[in-house]
Amino acid sequence: MTRITVKVDGSSFTDEVEPRTLLVHYLREQLGKTGTVIGCDTGNCGSCTVHLDGRSVKSCSLLAVQADGHEITTIEGLATNGQLHPMQQAFHENHALQCGYCTPGMIMQSIDLLADNPNPSDDDIRHGIEGNLCRCTGYQNIVKAVRAAAAGGAQ
Ligand code: FES
Ligand code: FES
Repeated sequence: MTRITVKVDGSSFTDEVEPRTLLVHYLREQLGKTGTVIGCDTGNCGSCTVHLDGRSVKSCSLLAVQADGHEITTIEGLATNGQLHPMQQAFHENHALQCGYCTPGMIMQSIDLLADNPNPSDDDIRHGIEGNLCRCTGYQNIVKAVRAAAAGGAQ
């Protein structure tokens, strides 16, 4: 076992983990952050996307030990004082989800996209979320939501 200390959604945690534990398994099983979901476990679907030091990563592609000393934000850490993050609000208002399984990762990736490009074209948005798969929506309303969040100044 290896001891790690991480900050997740604003709180510090020190835990013993197996060196082979994936970050997504640590978040879900040891910290109970089940808002971050697993779609494939192989880096393909993007549903496990979180922010590591402010940038999006697929948390099934990292080991928990690689996050030692770093700061992680999950979908559960976005709302402040009961107020949805503007990207969450935009997904809600633009009906950008159906089953919702891809949504946590899609939102985390979309926030990262706007951090790089605050005024993206539809092509930029589609390119920016190409690592996140949605089997329900056809992506149209997801693109619309990200466009709306950008227009509202969300980052
Ligand atoms: S669960 Fe991580 S990319 Fe699919
Ligand atoms: S809303 Fe169902 S997978 Fe995207």
